[in-house]
Amino acid sequence: MLSKKIKNFKVDDRIKHIAFIMDGNGRWAKKRALSRNLGHKQGAKALENIIVSCKDFGIKAITVYAFSTENWSRPKKEVDALMKLLDSYIEQSKTRDDNIRYVFIGDKSVVDEALRNKMVELEERTKNNDNIFNIAFNYGGRAEIVHACNKLLKEGKDEITEEDISDNIYTNHCPDPDLIIRTANEHRISNFLLWQCAYSEFYFTKVLWPDFDKKELYKAIMNFYGRKRRFGGLIKGEE
Ligand code: FPP
Repeated sequence: MLSKKIKNFKVDDRIKHIAFIMDGNGRWAKKRALSRNLGHKQGAKALENIIVSCKDFGIKAITVYAFSTENWSRPKKEVDALMKLLDSYIEQSKTRDDNIRYVFIGDKSVVDEALRNKMVELEERTKNNDNIFNIAFNYGGRAEIVHACNKLLKEGKDEITEEDISDNIYTNHCPDPDLIIRTANEHRISNFLLWQCAYSEFYFTKVLWPDFDKKELYKAIMNFYGRKRRFGGLIKGEE
């Protein structure tokens, strides 16, 4: 049961964007003697709940790390299962009218053509919706920065500014994440949002992704509210 406090909770303008590294699906499954693919399936269910929770809390933008450029090296069976999960996720989202704007960040060019067409169609169909949901798929942070620089070079730039890169990364339609949450007790960034995380706060939890729920999200936000963000400067009154 959720407390009234959590049920009625809304974020203030300190949180505009939360990003998630959804780690621990495999360990969740192993603990239950289930296949890794079932762990991912449960992870997808947790994701659906977290999207609803974020909306309930009034969070305008979220980003999830669904498939990294390094994940291709996993066994074919697991890669195929993750592709299938994304496919059925897209199919389900077609039936919802949830005011979510889906944006796939990453390199779509190597994704199977049928799936790629579905990704593009979903982006196109939801492009005027208000709540941003970035799905990092075949995503790598370094590749993203290189991609932005190459784009700028092709446009004829001979000198690149920070602003140019911020304007040309995949997430140029939303603010940088205020908070990045990583589950399953791993304390690293794993090539995720390298440019965007310059001033993000990090929250690490032992909870495995399939167990990460609204209560855990609330806990992470409360922890974030206890932080002092200085953005390299000083806070008024602390000079
Ligand atoms: C990391 O856990 C998780 C992934 C590589 C995939 C995340 C994908 C989902 C949650 C599925 C839903 C996504 C969409 C968009 C439908 P791990 O497998 O590395 O876990 P482990 O470290 O415990 O082995």
